[in-house]
Amino acid sequence: MNILLELKHLKHISLPARPVICKGLLIVIALIVLRAIVTPFLAVNSSEKEGFYDSTTDLLPGIRRDKFIEVPQIIWGLNNQKIAFARACLTARFLNRSLLMPSLSASLFYKEVDLLRPITFDKVFDFTKFNARCQGFVRLARYSEVSNQTKPFKLQKGSGRRWTVEKDLDQLLQYRRGEADDSEVIEIIGKHPFLWPDHWPVKDYARIFDCLALAPEIEAEVVKVISKIREAGLKARHEAGISHNKHAKEGTVNPPVPYIAVHMRIEKDWMIHCKKWEQRSNSNEICSSKEEIIHKVSQITDLRRPVVVYLAVADSLLEDDSITSGWRVGMVAFEKKRLGVTDIYNRQPYLIKSAIDFEVCARADVFVGNSFSTFSNLVVLSRTQRLYDMGKASSCGENVGLSSYAYNVIGDDGGPQRWMTDMSDTSLQNLSYGTNNISCH
Ligand SMILES: *[C@@H]1O[C@H](CO)[C@@H](O)[C@H](O)[C@H]1NC(C)=O
Ligand SMILES: *[C@@H]1O[C@H](CO)[C@@H](O)[C@H](O)[C@H]1NC(C)=O
Ligand SMILES: *[C@@H]1O[C@H](CO)[C@@H](O)[C@H](O)[C@H]1NC(C)=O
Ligand SMILES: *[C@@H]1O[C@H](CO)[C@@H](O)[C@H](O)[C@H]1NC(C)=O
Repeated sequence: MNILLELKHLKHISLPARPVICKGLLIVIALIVLRAIVTPFLAVNSSEKEGFYDSTTDLLPGIRRDKFIEVPQIIWGLNNQKIAFARACLTARFLNRSLLMPSLSASLFYKEVDLLRPITFDKVFDFTKFNARCQGFVRLARYSEVSNQTKPFKLQKGSGRRWTVEKDLDQLLQYRRGEADDSEVIEIIGKHPFLWPDHWPVKDYARIFDCLALAPEIEAEVVKVISKIREAGLKARHEAGISHNKHAKEGTVNPPVPYIAVHMRIEKDWMIHCKKWEQRSNSNEICSSKEEIIHKVSQITDLRRPVVVYLAVADSLLEDDSITSGWRVGMVAFEKKRLGVTDIYNRQPYLIKSAIDFEVCARADVFVGNSFSTFSNLVVLSRTQRLYDMGKASSCGENVGLSSYAYNVIGDDGGPQRWMTDMSDTSLQNLSYGTNNISCH
């Protein structure tokens, strides 16, 4: 469309000119203009994957850019916030609207609302990359895009037991039409979005999570922590007399030293909570002690020993130096304190600390977690999504450095259960509440 308009314009100004030279010149100018118009489009297509984002690509049909959804501040733990954010995105998508960039919460308070420390989405995640990666699926908008010519339409969400998934869906369908649909902004009010009913399949959540890239300053911290872990692995190999570059050819770069990440849930409040849970559900596959976890992790044979084991643990456990002791020969355990990276974490509020640990686990060569933890479940979801993206969905991550295990479930070979997310699940329920029905699909 743009190109045609530009050419018409050229023809028009050339009308008074007679000579043939002018016609030739005209063609040359037209070609230059055409090139100038077309080139940026080509450039955008090839660099889109790198997170380069140009609003011209939004000319493709997709979510409306002039209709918005506004949601209340998103609260609770990192993974609850991610799920709530995804739900807000999917609700906006359902109504074919852009989601106004929501506020997350930097600190972990449940009741004291004044202590929640709102933090805008783009302080934690990369706004531009998000829209580039999720283009055509969901769209985030800035408040400056709103014209404010009309008052927002307020949509009161129900809560409590009587507010069912069906009622919620009826309500959403109703607001796809009529007065609500005409208004520029639909402001959702009511309890925070994590409690909103879940209408969407796991693969839609996975698609949104896949668009979340950390803000560059936080990404830099993740890279620092991971390189510390790999350095520790290299040191352990040297001490064991294994030369890392024995087989490396002249001039080739050594592959990074692999590591195992273990999401260790053994802090006191979790143990009390999970014991009760086991009693209620008549199961013995929810809690694991430190010794059980060490035993399970030592049965994993994916990686050559000695190997570094990074322990993602609650801060309260850092007081207890014994969590890095008792590991089997060839498994060198570190948490952030022993690794010497506490200063990186201590500079950050709760939410960012968690986000760094999440990435360290998601990028590990082997991940071991608890299938009743939302954190572990979302780590495995992210790893499974990467296997799908690599076309390796049937490999369980073996040989590509992305295998995952659950230490709380006994696998077929007596070791920890191999674990991939069931991407065909029609709801997020099992992931957010936990299940021991896990396998490697
Ligand atoms: C959403 O809005 C876009 C832009 O107006 C439009 O092209 C598309 O058909 C709409 N989709 C739905 C499902 O309404
Ligand atoms: C509309 O209001 C929001 C704040 O409520 C503001 O950030 C935005 O700039 C306003 N838009 C315009 C066009 O004035
Ligand atoms: C376990 O998960 C599979 C799919 O992953 C499902 O088909 C099966 O019904 C589940 N079993 C139970 C008891 O929920
Ligand atoms: C997830 O939960 C549903 C019930 O909500 C069940 O039917 C399904 O089989 C479960 N999937 C897995 C993998 O356990």
